[in-house]
Order: sequence, then structure tokens, then C-alpha cells
Amino acid sequence: MSADPITIFRKTWGAYQKVISHNLMFHREIATAVATLFESRPGPLHLIDLGCGDASHIVKLFKPGQLEEYCGCDLSQFALDKARKNLEPFGAAVNLCSKDMLSALREAPESHYDIVYSSYALHHPPAESKQAVFSECRHVLRDNGCIILVDVMRDEGQARQEYLYSYNKTVRTQWEALTPDERNQVQEHIRSCDFPETASTLEQLARNAGFSKCQRLEKQTWHEAWCYEV
Ligand SMILES: C[S@@+](CC[C@H](N)C(=O)[O-])C[C@H]1O[C@@H](n2cnc3c(N)ncnc32)[C@H](O)[C@@H]1O
Repeated sequence: MSADPITIFRKTWGAYQKVISHNLMFHREIATAVATLFESRPGPLHLIDLGCGDASHIVKLFKPGQLEEYCGCDLSQFALDKARKNLEPFGAAVNLCSKDMLSALREAPESHYDIVYSSYALHHPPAESKQAVFSECRHVLRDNGCIILVDVMRDEGQARQEYLYSYNKTVRTQWEALTPDERNQVQEHIRSCDFPETASTLEQLARNAGFSKCQRLEKQTWHEAWCYEV
């Protein structure tokens, strides 16, 4: 079984599109909560999106003209090619880079961004890299900037194995919009590539990096959205 998130993600891309369109990972509720927060930040904003994928839903979170600069990074060139198309009508200056999120942050200018956004990607890197990601976010953000993190999070006290069992049971029994083969592909992806943390661990990583205002914006089962500010 491959443990390469990029290969698996490419293989399961079609299934992921169905997951989004059938709202199986609560993109809709989360988008509403995040868009409400963005209303208080009229812009023009500079944003970096870690693990941007095809950037198909971030374009819906902003009003025209609100974003001046969008930088998307993803390990998958396949996803970035799709992102380029989706971002065409966006109007912001777009920069897409095929890089690991940590490298992208390390190469980004200091105190430059208003928002570091990441949706359903931070559960892939190992725990040590996650602390480094939060620390690098502090460097690239302006003092009044924020991290918006959307991700799967284990329940408090729930071990990874228990999480994998419970999440995959949900996929098996409730994700009826997918074919049996797609459900198997998704479960394989989750077993091989998903290393989610609990919300309290992520909050601690954020606090260690200097983000002292940590606010949960939305929670739907294991799917959460948080805002971390200095
Ligand atoms: C589930 S998709 C999420 C895509 C999009 N952000 C969304 O919310 O729909 C996860 C994405 O993260 C990317 N990814 C995984 N690990 C990464 C890493 N270490 N650095 C950058 N991107 C990564 C994958 O290639 C994939 O496109």
C-alpha cells in the first residue's frame, strides 16, 4: 500500500469532488463560518493557502476585490493545474507553487500576509512539522494577521487508531454518494496519509508559536475550523 499522499490524492481526486459536492466533509457549514469572519476583514488582503488543492472553494469565500494577492502551495502539480483554471476569474494576483507547505512558508517574505489559510491539508505532515508550520506562520503574518485552519481533528483523548476506525466506519456506512470502489480508495487514503491532531494539541502548537487568541469557528463531527491570532 502506498503512503504517498500525492499519488493517492490524484487517484482519489474524482471521489474528493463528490465528497465536496455532497457536503460529506461539511465544506458548506465551514465556508459559511469562515466567510462570516472574512466579512470583518474588508481588505485588500494578502493570503497564502497551504495545501490549496484545486482552490475551487476558496474563491467563494471572498467578495470581488477583497483579495489583492493569493499564493497557493500544494505538493501536487495536478491539483495546481486545476487551481490555475479555477482562479482565472478571481482578479487577484495569483502565485501558485508546487512545494511542501513548510518550504513555501520558509521562502515567503516576513510579515507579508494578512491570512494564512489551510483547509484539510495540515493533518498530512507529521506532528514535528506541524509545530514548525505554526512557527513559520508567525513569521510570514503581519501583527494583525491570522491563521484560518480548517481540518479534521481527533476527539480529545481519541488515539489515531480509534479515529481511523470511527472515521472509516462513517465512510463505509454513510458516504453513500460514493461507489463502493471510491469508498475503498478514500479509506485507504485515510489509513495511509491522515495524521490528525486533537483541537487542543493544535491550539497548544499555535500558542507555542505566539498565537494567544484561539477561537473555534465551526465544528461538525471531526471537521473543524479555527482562527488563531497573535
Ligand atoms: C484534501 S485536499 C484539500 C484541498 C483544498 N485545500 C480543500 O480544502 O478542498 C489536501 C491537499 O493537500 C495537499 N498536501 C498534502 N500534504 C501537503 C504538504 N505537506 N504541503 C503542501 N500540500 C500538501 C494535497 O496535495 C492535496 O491537494
